[in-house]
Amino acid sequence: MNKILVAGGAGYIGSHICVELINEGYEPFVIDNLYNSSEVSLKRVAEITGKEVKFYNADFLDEEKISEIFDIEHPEAVIMCAGYKAVGESVAKPLEYYYNNLCSLMLVCDVMRKKGCHNIIFSSSATVYGEPDKMPITEDFPKGKTTNPYGTTKSMIEDILMDVNKAEPDFNVILLRYFNPIGAHQSGLIGEDPKGIPNNLVPYIAQVAIGKRDAIHVFGNDYNTPDGTGVRDYIHVVDLAKGHVAAIRKLEQSSGLMIYNLGTGHGYSVLEVIDAYEKACGKTIKRVIDPRRPGDIACCYCDPSKAAKELGWKAELGIYEMCRDSYNWQSKNPDGYGPTDHAQICLQ
Ligand code: UFG
Repeated sequence: MNKILVAGGAGYIGSHICVELINEGYEPFVIDNLYNSSEVSLKRVAEITGKEVKFYNADFLDEEKISEIFDIEHPEAVIMCAGYKAVGESVAKPLEYYYNNLCSLMLVCDVMRKKGCHNIIFSSSATVYGEPDKMPITEDFPKGKTTNPYGTTKSMIEDILMDVNKAEPDFNVILLRYFNPIGAHQSGLIGEDPKGIPNNLVPYIAQVAIGKRDAIHVFGNDYNTPDGTGVRDYIHVVDLAKGHVAAIRKLEQSSGLMIYNLGTGHGYSVLEVIDAYEKACGKTIKRVIDPRRPGDIACCYCDPSKAAKELGWKAELGIYEMCRDSYNWQSKNPDGYGPTDHAQICLQ
């Protein structure tokens, strides 16, 4: 394989995937509607790799345009990172989330089969496991009850792709269940650029570290975990991106439906992450304890050994590197990629 469509490739994870694909000799191109991303990220990818990434500003609900792009580019595989992803927003706008995320996925699959492309890698999430009663999570754990429409779209899309693979066994599917991606490229040129107040832990800490926000609010210290705060499996975004290259390699050799956890296998509590961040940035991060956030679970970390065995992939970077690279990105880009004219979320 050579030509890979990175759907949503201007976003946080997609831009890192483009870098790693280029590093391994692939030719990624990007379709993105820039709803929650900036074209600047792709210019930065070019700066890092010395190679331009072809970019199409298009929406995955626009079948005519997506078909036209397939006719020009003839991708051999699609990495589907495009979609709405804010948990809280999904609770307020469920229809928009179901419509956009499900329809985009179905449209891209339909175009793929019409154009003879039958390899898809989907950005899924640990959220599909719900709240399992034991850890670490292996891929054979049953899917659980999701706690918000965003998570439900991930679970529903997995089901759709499994059914498509069942009906059309030549349509190869890899579901990558991400744990908690954080950090940024070591260059400090690309990273996470959340709109408004960050929803996630590390982007919020990063803004406290550079003085943009006053203190990190710890959502609950009465969980059944060693220090009472939530435990997650944080994974460096560059490791995560490399996991996608490993998945592409897998599709070059195998067919069918494959599911992999992408995490490190280590759980860190909120307080441990704040401590690691303090060490990495050399500053004190002010913290306040707040009540639990609705929908949060106590603990979530994976057993990543299936990916190690079958993909030959393992996360290499630890929590210190994740915090170091997050801080490097945030301090070099205090306002992310700068103001962008973000579209409003709306039904078509
Ligand atoms: N947290 C805080 N303060 C904050 C933000 C988060 O204490 O300001 C805590 C949360 O309570 C949780 C931990 O930090 O214990 C991690 O929270 P994140 O919001 O960073 O990540 P989540 O685990 O809640 O969510 C992530 C992804 C989702 C995905 C989910 C399940 O953001 O997309 O993992 O895998 F669905």
